[in-house]
Amino acid sequence: MFKILFVCLGNICRSPMGEFILKDMIRRAGRNEDFFIASAGTSSEEQGNGVYPPAKRELAKHGIDCTGKRAVRFCASDYEKYDYILCMEQRNAEGVLRIAGGDPKGKVFRLLDFSARPRDIADPWYTGDFAAAYKDIEEGCLGFLNYLSESEK
Ligand code: 4NP
Repeated sequence: MFKILFVCLGNICRSPMGEFILKDMIRRAGRNEDFFIASAGTSSEEQGNGVYPPAKRELAKHGIDCTGKRAVRFCASDYEKYDYILCMEQRNAEGVLRIAGGDPKGKVFRLLDFSARPRDIADPWYTGDFAAAYKDIEEGCLGFLNYLSESEK
């Protein structure tokens, strides 16, 4: 069982997109039983709020439903609970390290560190470009699954 947590700042745009894009890939691969996938934010600003409507619409364009997701804040105990903590940008990784008190087990990554071109994922809350965020997150999820399948060999 792989336990995966996506992390962004607010947990209303990028990390829920990551959560539901990866869940969709895993479901289509018939591997639901092997994965536990969730998302959280380093800020408490949006706690309890649903996915931001433009992010929800972008997921829906790709046939992905995120009904029921409510923003939660990353907490220190999440560090032990998950195997991979996939952050949308360096700032989020720094927030995770601050809350968790470090990364002694090497679980914290940027999602696009698993792509051919490691980089941050720009925050669509500010850029307004939810299609670009979707493409970047999809690229990162594919790269991450590729990494996992190599590590399973
Ligand atoms: P996210 O986007 O980190 O991708 O969920 C944001 C959502 C809300 C805020 C910042 C970023 N905010 O400042 O409330």
